[in-house]
Amino acid sequence: MSQDQKNEFALAKKVTLSTLQKLVAEGEKFSCISLYDATMSALAISSGVETLLVGDSLGMTIQGHNDTLPVTMEQMVYHTEAVARGNQKSLIIADLPFMAYATPEQAMDNAKRLMQAGAQMVKLEGGQWLCETVSLLAERGIPVCAHVGLTPQSVNKFGGFKVQGRTEEQGDSILADTLALEKAGADLVVFECIPSHLAKKITRALTTMISIGIGAGRDVDGQVLVINDILGMTKYAPKFSKDFLAEAGTVDGAMRRFVEDVKKGVFPGDEHGFQ
Ligand code: KIV
Repeated sequence: MSQDQKNEFALAKKVTLSTLQKLVAEGEKFSCISLYDATMSALAISSGVETLLVGDSLGMTIQGHNDTLPVTMEQMVYHTEAVARGNQKSLIIADLPFMAYATPEQAMDNAKRLMQAGAQMVKLEGGQWLCETVSLLAERGIPVCAHVGLTPQSVNKFGGFKVQGRTEEQGDSILADTLALEKAGADLVVFECIPSHLAKKITRALTTMISIGIGAGRDVDGQVLVINDILGMTKYAPKFSKDFLAEAGTVDGAMRRFVEDVKKGVFPGDEHGFQ
């Protein structure tokens, strides 16, 4: 069976949380692409990508802001609807934007809007302070993806988009946050820009939660990249990204190449990670 046929086969049914859990149990890596519209999400189907993220990175990639803070719930609903219309196969995760989950009640209302717009999971950024919110969402049937490390909505606290968890103390704190979020009921966790050895250590410590890395090395369960980075369209490309379009020549080819390289374990390379 060719890789293309395998991908078609794998995506013959809608990808669910159980699909991801099965892949991880079998030691197979999976992919996620952060994208924002129906055309790109439809093109992604043939790549075999298991999950799509409607990321609030759209504040930077689509809207031209310097960070993700101006993104609103209305905009997230609009983009989630568009992505869901284009792709009925991949599991769709949608970001709760800045201040849309400042209280558990707000999180419930806004997660409901994203789920009704076509998401199958919501993502929120932060550590232990989110445990109550995560439990509440999980108990009411809303799958949750946590996001730790470089959490872009806290860019002003970090003083810039900086790698997190470089010291032992910071690393221990990210580990403790992740384990607390797992206990609270989060299903997935994104590690953004943390040292590869730390992402590996935390992934090994998880029992039920699945890890996805971006700038976190290859020893995690899945990888996520933003579509603009996959297509080499970012002016100052981050160290963790790779221009797959340069190799593949077409947009859907670039997505497929990303998915295949993640499966084979050749992306990310050591040069894409932080030590
Ligand atoms: O908003 C986004 O696209 C993200 C990814 C970078 C993980 O959160």
